[in-house]
Amino acid sequence: MEQPFKAVKISEHVHWVGAIDRDIRDFHGYLTSRGTTYNAYLILANKITLIDTVKAPFREEMLSRIASVISPRDITYIVSNHSEMDHSGSLPEVIQAANPEKVFASVMGVKALEEHFHWGNRAEPVKNGGTLDLGNMKLSFIETRMLHWPDSMMSYLDGDALLFSQDAFGMHLASRERFADEIDDDVLEHEGARYYANILLPYSRLVTKLLEKVAGLGIPINVLAPDHGPAWRKDLKRMPELYSKWAAQKPTRKAVIVYDTMWQSTSKMAGAIGDGLTEGGAAPKLMSLKSCHRSDAAAEILDAGALIAGSPTLNNGIFPTVADVLTYLKGLKPRNLVGAAFGSYGWSGEAVGQAQETLSAMGVEIAGEGIKAKYVPDNDVLARCRALGRDIARRMLTIQAENLKED
Ligand code: FEO
Repeated sequence: MEQPFKAVKISEHVHWVGAIDRDIRDFHGYLTSRGTTYNAYLILANKITLIDTVKAPFREEMLSRIASVISPRDITYIVSNHSEMDHSGSLPEVIQAANPEKVFASVMGVKALEEHFHWGNRAEPVKNGGTLDLGNMKLSFIETRMLHWPDSMMSYLDGDALLFSQDAFGMHLASRERFADEIDDDVLEHEGARYYANILLPYSRLVTKLLEKVAGLGIPINVLAPDHGPAWRKDLKRMPELYSKWAAQKPTRKAVIVYDTMWQSTSKMAGAIGDGLTEGGAAPKLMSLKSCHRSDAAAEILDAGALIAGSPTLNNGIFPTVADVLTYLKGLKPRNLVGAAFGSYGWSGEAVGQAQETLSAMGVEIAGEGIKAKYVPDNDVLARCRALGRDIARRMLTIQAENLKED
């Protein structure tokens, strides 16, 4: 029967059978301006195997793509590389439609799927380094615990030298094109960096170890197939090299200033600190939270050397948008940053201290005492802001020089 959606062949034995979500803009708090794809893959081995599924509302699209190649009832195995709902949401319905002999997941994946679906342990565990015989090919499993969930794993198909890398090396990018070499390079790097900053940044030390682990396996890889965005069949080192750079978070001259303002006073202070940073040799990036999203700030600090937070005091506390972005960034555990806090106030002025405390709790080295301006900053306050910018720049350049020496 003619299907409304078609599978796309990505290697000799593997078809992409995922779904394209052009409309999503909020991926658990991350602004996905270009939508996303939920990638699932069908291996046409002797024992036909499905790798991952899609978010629940897209199950019909996925089943249609499968049906454009085979009957879903021909699927023998389903492998769940990751239990997060964008990949497992339609798993129960797909199992019902396909009636596979077995469903596999990592040891932690079996537990997580049970805790999602309460289905009497329908999935069976596979071990790190374990294999699954597909008749004419073999699937091997590589656990990637906490990258980015406890259950996460990758699967490797020896026949096509294809690594199903699950969330790693992916990006939120809805496109008809299925391969990275069909997409503009700048878009790939921009969305890849946003994805890393917003999803994987807290696990950067594990990313470095994983890159070593995969390289150490010495397996040939002809196709890298993540669970979001395009697959890679050319330039296969590009994403691993970028991951290596992003995971290191080496300090740069970029200083990110996130701030909001009520009556332009905190905004004026941000501008003066930016001027001081420039005078000191740093490169300020001012991010007004009236026009920037928290995930834009996350993407900018990926290659920054400073994070400076500006907040007016509202009702004895930090301004809501600034609290939002600092809470979000704190969770992402950025490293190697210096910073400071500033802001205006009317009568109590708690926000600057609260912002500075949050920065310290994030591990940001405080490079200068926070500056408060009562109501509207005068020339003296603005001069202090410029001096703070110069002090921060000086500290950034010192750290950068020390870093270069260590290299
Ligand atoms: Fe794409 Fe962690 O889910």
